Amino acid sequence: MNLSSTAPSTTSAQPPATATVDACQPHYTGLRRRAMIARIKRLLKERDAVLVAHYYTHQDLQLIADETGGHVADSLEMARFGDRHPARTLVVAGVRFMGETAKILNPEKRVLMPTLEATCSLDLSCPAEEFSGFCDAHPDHEVVVYANTSAAVKARADWVVTSSIAVKVVSHLMDQGKKILWAPDRYLGRYIQKVTGAEMTLWQGACIVHEEFKSQAMLDLIAKHPGAGVLVHPESPEEVIDMAHVVGSTTQLIRAARELPQDTFIVATDRAIFYKMRQGAPHKRFLAAPTGGEGATCRSCAHCPWMAMNGLHNLEQVLLRGDNEIHVDEAIRIQALRSTRRMLDFAGA
Ligand code: 13P
Ligand code: SF4
Repeated sequence: MNLSSTAPSTTSAQPPATATVDACQPHYTGLRRRAMIARIKRLLKERDAVLVAHYYTHQDLQLIADETGGHVADSLEMARFGDRHPARTLVVAGVRFMGETAKILNPEKRVLMPTLEATCSLDLSCPAEEFSGFCDAHPDHEVVVYANTSAAVKARADWVVTSSIAVKVVSHLMDQGKKILWAPDRYLGRYIQKVTGAEMTLWQGACIVHEEFKSQAMLDLIAKHPGAGVLVHPESPEEVIDMAHVVGSTTQLIRAARELPQDTFIVATDRAIFYKMRQGAPHKRFLAAPTGGEGATCRSCAHCPWMAMNGLHNLEQVLLRGDNEIHVDEAIRIQALRSTRRMLDFAGA
């Protein structure tokens, strides 16, 4: 297997703590919650809008997407659904790169988000200008970027991938004898490199949620539940990935929870995913992978602070006001469309 060379570049993100974000959100229960959900469903219809939500968003948003002909999915399927759906307005509940991807693919549609503040530590770790310098320094490499990046970074790339097809795309490029420049997630990059044996140069970004999973505490939890299945998202540290029965995108982990024979699972990804896991396998038990060893504290506690910014309140507001629209500079969009469309074509094939 070829070993990587690594890029020195990295920018440390300063994320809000999930608990802080959560405390600022209005929370609805009982009658008020039901009335709000009913109003949002009505507004979606009146505005000819469809809701596309990520599995890490609040379960009420996932429920509305499911019950109104929208979609709850991983980042690849969110992009594919938005691309196919005839609605004139896409409301994307997730983080900013998901809204931008929808806009890159569908410039004729209006793409709205409950909040434009919801970013991603991977996106923040990879500023376009710095990344462009990294590409310039490796002119003989194929540039493959994770979807969790800005439109400007996608515009500089040859390929965009998500966790669900990253291994397949890199294998395909390796078969063509290509050397790969990968950004921004170093853990996902390392995982792809291990699985494929590809020659990869890695940007040094990380997801602040998955990076917090702790291997020793995980070993202790596995020892307590020796029959449990272990499901891990590949943005997690290498030692945690090494313990997994299944490594995959959010959709792939949900499918594994349903299809594997175990009745208990230890899950190393955002805990909001339990909503769909429980729907698919109601009699099974799901345990969150530990984010802190003894005495440790966590910032995200296995829930993305930016995903947590999406709620019923700002979803209703965006439908009422039609603000929070995603705009992408047209020259950047056209460039980013090449690498993003390639991903969808590859997935379709
Ligand atoms: P998926 O594509 O697996 O949904 O991952 C997106 C993401 O942001 C994970 O942290
Ligand atoms: Fe980004 Fe991590 Fe949040 Fe996913 S969970 S959106 S990778 S910060």
